[in-house]
Amino acid sequence: VPQNKVRHFLSLEDYSPAEIFALVEKASSLKKICKNLPLAQKDLDLKHSLHTSPNLSGKTVALMFTKRSTRTRIATESSVAFLGGSSMFLGSSDIQLGVNESLLDSSIVISSMVDAIMARVNGHEDIEELAKYSSVPVINALSDSSHPTQILADMLTLYEVFQKPAQSVQDALKGLKASWVGDSNNMLYEFLTAFPKCGISLAAATPQNYPIPQKYIQLATSSPQNAPIYITTSPAIAISGANVIITDTWISMGQEEEKKQRLLDFAGYQINDSLISAGNPHPDYIFMHCLPRKPDEVSDQIFYGDKSVVFQEAENRKYTIMAVLHSLLVDSTDH
Ligand code: CP
Ligand code: NVA
Repeated sequence: VPQNKVRHFLSLEDYSPAEIFALVEKASSLKKICKNLPLAQKDLDLKHSLHTSPNLSGKTVALMFTKRSTRTRIATESSVAFLGGSSMFLGSSDIQLGVNESLLDSSIVISSMVDAIMARVNGHEDIEELAKYSSVPVINALSDSSHPTQILADMLTLYEVFQKPAQSVQDALKGLKASWVGDSNNMLYEFLTAFPKCGISLAAATPQNYPIPQKYIQLATSSPQNAPIYITTSPAIAISGANVIITDTWISMGQEEEKKQRLLDFAGYQINDSLISAGNPHPDYIFMHCLPRKPDEVSDQIFYGDKSVVFQEAENRKYTIMAVLHSLLVDSTDH
């Protein structure tokens, strides 16, 4: 079976800090272009190239999603439309995959007819298998170990909130202190993969019975240049001095049957006013959450409060996914 040498976007593990910063810079420009905001010279250059060079016109992106999605799906379909292409949503009940056809065969067939695949899977090994046999770029729209497009949106949000005038993404993010309070899940693993190597330190609190796999600790500490990480079971210690407090659902898609036990196991992990008083984050801290949110992990006061940037973060999914599509399908193609 032929395997193809194509650049994919499966995890930020495969992208250098410089490449990650460039994607966030591009997303920031695309947002300004799409929203008719004032443009600096580099934004104008990108806008000009969108009008003058080939874009996604005549190209198709297949969305192979085995799980539900609001943000990732809409961000992708609207981005493909903005760039002049078209997208097709292939849910589990639409295609033969998994019932009548293997992932290997599906990958060869689907990639022979489209220009990129955005896939939401259960196990990360599924997206690796899809990418191995795909002749076009595969973008990870969520797996059990990674959510790379979400982490890019979170970095764009941090950049927007913390940048000083004319500051680069790299300089704006360097030295920020992020804290995670919650599950040992795909979001935390991708933060550990990307944040320390991009200069953002990370303190993470997960319950005793939800330890972080060694692989992600190793990724986070793989270079002496990385910002430090701190692992604890204490939410208050994790948020101490934080510039950004991040959480996610305690019950990820596919874990619905564990709900009762998880609600017990995560007692004391809700982000709320009493945790904030106990933990003493930076006075100008912000709160982030990838959504969808349940009230268990964060109180309404915090989620809808003036420190929360969750809806800005959600909107930024669009421009960061657009930047990934543009980089993989427009920038890196010889027309
Ligand atoms: N944050 C996120 O991936 O949301 P969706 O599941 O709605 O795509
Ligand atoms: N951890 C969550 C993220 C959803 C965007 C899940 O995997 O369901």
